Amino acid sequence: MATIGIVGSGNIGSWVARAALAHGYEVVLSNSRGPQTLSELVTELGPHARAGTTADAVAAGDLVLVAIPLKNISELDPELFTGKVVIDANNYYPQRDGQIASLDDESTTTSELLQAHLPDAKVVKAFNHIAAAEIVSTAQPAGTPGRRALVIAGDDQTAKDQVAAFIDAIGFDVLDIGPLSEGWRIQRDTPGYVRQRDLTQLRADVEAAKRYRDM
Ligand SMILES: NC(=O)c1ccc[n+]([C@@H]2O[C@H](COP(=O)([O-])OP(=O)(O)OC[C@H]3O[C@@H](n4cnc5c(N)ncnc54)[C@H](OP(=O)(O)O)[C@@H]3O)[C@@H](O)[C@H]2O)c1
Repeated sequence: MATIGIVGSGNIGSWVARAALAHGYEVVLSNSRGPQTLSELVTELGPHARAGTTADAVAAGDLVLVAIPLKNISELDPELFTGKVVIDANNYYPQRDGQIASLDDESTTTSELLQAHLPDAKVVKAFNHIAAAEIVSTAQPAGTPGRRALVIAGDDQTAKDQVAAFIDAIGFDVLDIGPLSEGWRIQRDTPGYVRQRDLTQLRADVEAAKRYRDM
């Protein structure tokens, strides 16, 4: 697993890039405005980072992080993602994303929406519940007592195993909470959302999570 393709190079995309680079990965980053607008960032990131189009970033990625606002996922060309393992960092903020009826009535989840848009990709939910800069500042080596844990959810076990290995490599324990449909357990306003938790605490938070309708 050598290259992380990063679609969306704002907060979460740039901090996952820094974490990946610090642990020996290559990164290829894209945004909506084109690679020429990422020259300052890739200069800062150094020789193992480059900017490309979204097609370049997806094609290059052994894993592909989608780190764009939820309202923009319909802009992604599904054909680019065929066969790819896609990490979804999305959250739903109606004030940013507009009202999305199927999330408002809790008949689906954010990562299931991305999976539906990218039917030939294998989507794994991860990184949605950590503040971007903490992906570097709270990372610790495996075996550190109290090491921070991050959730994954997904419908494909092999894809989840690959994403779990990446998350462990960059500094976190991993809690697999099951299929994408369980992703609501770590959505905005749940106990584990953006709090620093070790594996035991995070498991308890996920089990205690309530649907918005039950809050
Ligand atoms: N910020 C955090 O700490 C954090 C933590 C966890 C999860 N998240 C979630 O991650 C997602 C991204 O948040 P963010 O804070 O990283 O956003 P952000 O800083 O606003 O960055 C968004 C990035 O997405 C790019 N983009 C937008 N539409 C695109 C498209 N169609 N194709 C390619 N790139 C596109 C933007 O490019 P341009 O600038 O060129 O338009 C920009 O690079 C959100 O759902 C957020 O809730 C954020």
